[in-house]
Amino acid sequence: MWSDAAVGVMPVDLVDVYRKRASRHWLNRMLRLLSPPAPFIMNPGEPKDFPLGRWNLYIGGAGRRVDGYVNIDLFAVSGVDVATDAELLPFRGDLFQRIECDAVLEHVRDPQRVMSEMCRVLAPGGYLHIVTPFCHPFHEYPRDFRRFTIDGLELLAGPMQVVAAGWRTGPTATLLVVAIEYVKLLLPFRIWRAFAHVVCGWLLFPLRYLDLLLLRSPEARRIGNHCYIWLRKRG
Ligand SMILES: C[S@@+](CC[C@H](N)C(=O)[O-])C[C@H]1O[C@@H](n2cnc3c(N)ncnc32)[C@H](O)[C@@H]1O
Repeated sequence: MWSDAAVGVMPVDLVDVYRKRASRHWLNRMLRLLSPPAPFIMNPGEPKDFPLGRWNLYIGGAGRRVDGYVNIDLFAVSGVDVATDAELLPFRGDLFQRIECDAVLEHVRDPQRVMSEMCRVLAPGGYLHIVTPFCHPFHEYPRDFRRFTIDGLELLAGPMQVVAAGWRTGPTATLLVVAIEYVKLLLPFRIWRAFAHVVCGWLLFPLRYLDLLLLRSPEARRIGNHCYIWLRKRG
């Protein structure tokens, strides 16, 4: 069960965050309209086309529908099919043909345990896709415990076969997300920070395309933003 007593810090109220994101209030609608393009692009070389099966699992998709997947999250908010902790999945073994775990492992208390759970419910021959941050600002969903390298993900993989691994978002993404956070840090009021987020986001986003070049270099790993790994459960 999720409990923060052990750490003694109040977690972010994610239910409120997701409610605001879906809100039709004019202020929230305006903020959504003004919101700049993401300061990163996805690596076009990241493989995507591993087969889906009858049952597929998406971990951590609160606030949106994920077609073709059973969507689980800690919180029973819109889009979530089963509210549960990924450390104890309420499914029988060998069920899912594909599992997506995108930007979640940094938020769980025990990634090794989540990994064994994902391995347990994955069908033999099924695919598990994990994406994790390496150089990325602190972000609480509802907590933020750690960062990962590709080597670290391979170590976590245990008995599963590594099919592919690499960088999803590159060094420019790191630079831009940190620059935006840095500017916000200089500003005392929340409304100023929201404004800076919009202005910096619009000014800086064209630079994101530099990653199309930089992601070709193996040295991108020094300050890469998010890395991915595709694993296959041996049949
Ligand atoms: C950063 S968001 C990722 C959202 C989505 N995958 C994406 O890439 O846009 C992390 C999500 O994981 C969920 N989460 C965190 N810890 C979890 C856990 N132990 N079990 C299930 N979900 C968890 C959070 O509630 C949050 O919705």
